[in-house]
Order: sequence, then C-alpha cells, then structure tokens
Amino acid sequence: MPGKVILAGEHAVVYGKMALAASIGLGVEAKVVKAPQGVQNQIIRKAIELAGGGRDLGVKIISEIPIGSGLGSSAAVSAAVIKAVRVYLGKSIRQDELFRLTMECEKITHGNPSGIDPATVVYGGLIAYRKGRPIERLQIKKSLTLLLVDSGRPMESTKEMVELVATNPQTERIVDEIETVVTKVRGGLERGRNVAEFLNQNGKLLEDLGVVGLGAMKLSNELRKLGCSVKITGAGGVVTGSGIMIVMNNNLVMIKGMLDKKHVGYIETIVGIE
Ligand code: MEV
Repeated sequence: MPGKVILAGEHAVVYGKMALAASIGLGVEAKVVKAPQGVQNQIIRKAIELAGGGRDLGVKIISEIPIGSGLGSSAAVSAAVIKAVRVYLGKSIRQDELFRLTMECEKITHGNPSGIDPATVVYGGLIAYRKGRPIERLQIKKSLTLLLVDSGRPMESTKEMVELVATNPQTERIVDEIETVVTKVRGGLERGRNVAEFLNQNGKLLEDLGVVGLGAMKLSNELRKLGCSVKITGAGGVVTGSGIMIVMNNNLVMIKGMLDKKHVGYIETIVGIE
C-alpha cells in the first residue's frame, strides 16, 4: 500500500473542510506468517483481527515510508496488513471495506481522524476529500514535481497535534482561510496553473495554526528566501521536528545542493500521474 502526501488542507479537514492528497511512490508491504512475530503492536493485532485472522497469524512488515513523518505510514501499515490477511484467508476485500477497516485502526492511534490518510492510501491517485462525503478523483492538467524535505521526526502524535490545534483561539478563522486556499489549489490544478504560491500560503497558515516547530520554520524561511514555496504536510510537530515539508521550486537542482550541504534529507516525487 502506498504512503500519502497531503497537498493542501490538513487540520482544516478535521473541521469538515476539503483537503487534497495524493498517494506517493513509497509503500508498505505486509506478509502473513504462521506464528506471531514476537509481540506485535496493538494496531497490527487489531488489523489482523478486523480482517478475520486469528491469534495464530502474525505479519512481517516491510516499509519504505518513514514512520511518524506525515506520509501516512500508520494508515498504509494497517491497510497492508488487512489486505494481506484477506489474501492469506482467500477472501477478497472491496476498497470501501478496506477503507472502513483501516479507519477503525486509525481511530486507535489518532482518536478522531478525518479519514484522509486511509482514503488516500486505499483509493490511491490524487483525491479531494471531505469527511463523510464520497471521495472525488481530481483530473489535473499537469503533474506536480515536489521535493519532500525532512524537517525531523515530530515528537508528538497526530492526535496530540489535532488536540493542540483545538486549543488555538484563532483556529476557526485560520481554518476558514485554509479552506479558501485549498479551493484555489484545486482550481489551479484542474486548470493546469501553477499552484506553488497557494501551497506556500497554506504553509504559512499552518504556521499560524501553531503546528510548525522552530527548526522547520527556520529551514522554511531559508528556502523561501531562495524562492521556494514551502508547507509542512500532515499533522506537523513543535517540540522537535515537524515531519516532511513539501518544497516547490523551478530550480530543484540548486535547492537539492543547498539541502545536501546542510545534510537535510529529501526525496523527489511526482504526483498527478496515474
Ligand atoms: C494527518 O495526516 C492529517 C490531519 O489533518 C489529521 C486528520 O485529518 O485526521 C492532521
């Protein structure tokens, strides 16, 4: 199962707004093994159980997605385990059922998730997501080349970050502003326009929301001085790292050189091509 990147609208999506997300080329593979592999974590056990597997089954996980960095590793692991168990049991699983069961697992880790992570991981491609609404596939004119830059692993969980946002007295206003920007990103993508500046505005609104730490903020400012658009993707983090940041620039060679010098990790990905 693939990981995901939220292009625009994280956190606001928890408040019922639209968010845009895409699956990425990094993924998770799960293999069912007969005897349980040591002590398996609660989520994996839950995923096995939801898929109809018994306590005699375990799974081996092979993941390319960095854990806890905003790229949907927890949803991808749960979905991969559920699917692998069903294949092992010789029972098929439809996408809507896989989404529903993955969501059950996400509730254990994230409390009250919007569902955007399991939706992107399960349905794949580029989607517009709104809580409780059918998933919309985006038809875009031009693919997007993104640099996914590592600002460091967050110490906080997604659940803690969602709770932090709820305590910000400005949240309602900022969430409304994010909604406006997300609509512009969607319109731009559908018309084949450059959406870099809108992503940057979304990035700044996430900073106002209080989900970006000092280290990520400093790196963002340096990148913006070089003409980049920058936004964190996923829940963020403030105590240490803020997870992965989306960086857009016409001259990615120059930006990669700068990041190499600073020993900052990154990967390049293209979204929007099915
Ligand atoms: C996490 O990938 C995205 C958040 O909006 C939480 C959620 O939607 O459940 C921060």
